[in-house]
Amino acid sequence: MSSNGIPENGTAHDAADVPVEVTPTGSIRRPKAQGLAKGENVPGVAKVDPILIADNITRRFGGLTAVDVDHVEVPRGVITALIGPNGAGKTTLFNLLCGFDKPNSGTWSFDGKSLSGIPSFKVARMGQVRTFQLTKALSLLTVLENMKLGATSQKGEKLWASVIPAIWRKQDNEIEEKAQGLLARFKLDAKAEDYAASLSGGQRKLLEMARALMSDPTLVMLDEPMAGVNPALTESLLDHILDLKDLGMTVLFVEHDMHMVRHIADWVIVMAEGRIVAEGPPETVMHDQAVIDAYLGSHQDVDLGVVTGRVEGELDASAEELLEEIKEAEEASIADAEEGK
Ligand SMILES: Nc1ncnc2c1ncn2[C@@H]1O[C@H](COP(=O)(O)OP(=O)(O)OP(=O)(O)O)[C@@H](O)[C@H]1O
Ligand SMILES: [Mg+2]
Repeated sequence: MSSNGIPENGTAHDAADVPVEVTPTGSIRRPKAQGLAKGENVPGVAKVDPILIADNITRRFGGLTAVDVDHVEVPRGVITALIGPNGAGKTTLFNLLCGFDKPNSGTWSFDGKSLSGIPSFKVARMGQVRTFQLTKALSLLTVLENMKLGATSQKGEKLWASVIPAIWRKQDNEIEEKAQGLLARFKLDAKAEDYAASLSGGQRKLLEMARALMSDPTLVMLDEPMAGVNPALTESLLDHILDLKDLGMTVLFVEHDMHMVRHIADWVIVMAEGRIVAEGPPETVMHDQAVIDAYLGSHQDVDLGVVTGRVEGELDASAEELLEEIKEAEEASIADAEEGK
């Protein structure tokens, strides 16, 4: 075993197949969750223990319907990936669920409480936080100051407390201690006093994630956490996301990297043209015809008939890539079956 907890002759991806994995910090990785859905894996399937439930959500921009979701449930305490081609409506759905945008119709609830019409700052206080596809770290604040902004319900913000310095000073110390602890966990402690502007793209993603944790969330929503991240940092980001689950949080993330989705997601929800078109565990959902169809968005030139073997024909590079992705998913599910999982 190497120092980062991944078997020496293996990769981060192989590690997903090991039921119990010991992390660099010595904690035990929770294996992939099974039995999350109440019935057959169809779009909108009810979950045994949902944390987020949405109904009839639509969002139109002019003549374009960006989101049109009949029903979706996000399972609690596990990692769910929201995937789909560019423009599928993933970010728009995130914005709606977090109160950053208002839908044309729909109702949704988080932990049993209705969130319809609740603004984003209140949603965050209720325990649901998100990060952005394009990072929102404030460049002209230091890394530590960015972290402190992530803390919710600071007593110093209340009038009665602001006249009693002892109260806010004590709380400010607590917040700073928590921020420093999180920065250390994300290996950003040496940068605490630097301007966020000086961080690399990957470090900004780490900062955004660390800042989201300042409010002790129950649901963490990550919009493309890996986008623009240097490969040297992706493994550590993966570990941090798995850590969130190990710590009991629920994670919902948008990602285009299918390797990552297969590696860390317990459940996958697929969107295309604003709708949920498929749902299921990663090893089965990747075989779904709707998923293959949805991904034609990013594999424009692929003849589906050729890919699925219905039609004889030449496979181009994009089709080969798609086939490779499907083959890997198959191999992973065979390996899982052989291990008796
Ligand atoms: N503010 C807006 N005004 C007009 N159209 C918008 C707006 N935001 C999103 N759209 C459109 O809504 C659709 C869904 O966009 P969205 O950003 O949600 O997709 P996405 O699945 O996150 O895509 P990507 O994978 O590229 O991030 C797209 O057609 C997009 O152009
Ligand atoms: Mg997006």
